[in-house]
Amino acid sequence: MAILPIVLFPEKILQQKCDKVTSFDKKLAKLLNNMYETMVEADGVGLAAPQVGVKKQVAVVEIEEGSGAIELINPEVLELEGEQTGVEGCLSFPSLYGEVIRPYRVKVRAQDRKGSYFEIEAEDFLARALLHEIDHLQGVLFTSKVSRYISEEELERYGEE
Ligand code: NI
Repeated sequence: MAILPIVLFPEKILQQKCDKVTSFDKKLAKLLNNMYETMVEADGVGLAAPQVGVKKQVAVVEIEEGSGAIELINPEVLELEGEQTGVEGCLSFPSLYGEVIRPYRVKVRAQDRKGSYFEIEAEDFLARALLHEIDHLQGVLFTSKVSRYISEEELERYGEE
């Protein structure tokens, strides 16, 4: 595995709609493994392929280290419900944090690294993380949804809650 360089805003690839994955091959497996390692190394809870310079609909999410990576290929949101307000950051925007209002619950259909379809239902912070990464694959960045930016000082207070 390898740590990949993370693409930072305002690189154009972050603002483009990604292509669907059609080959579920060794190259894809390698990309997923490297993305996971890169995300863990960067202390992130999710990473999308455009953030490592690959314009493909591939994302990994793991909100708690060691809980098992969720790999999303060609994800599609099937259902959204409720609302939540919470703080988000993004590995492509170092030291930038803001409050984003998102649905509380989500149901997603995606493919795994072998190409098999699966569905995942999530709520609260996991739903937020999944939706943030799925947005990346459409070229949508969290900054377009921030209702209020948060200072580092305020962020620490959030962490203590
Ligand atoms: Ni992000």
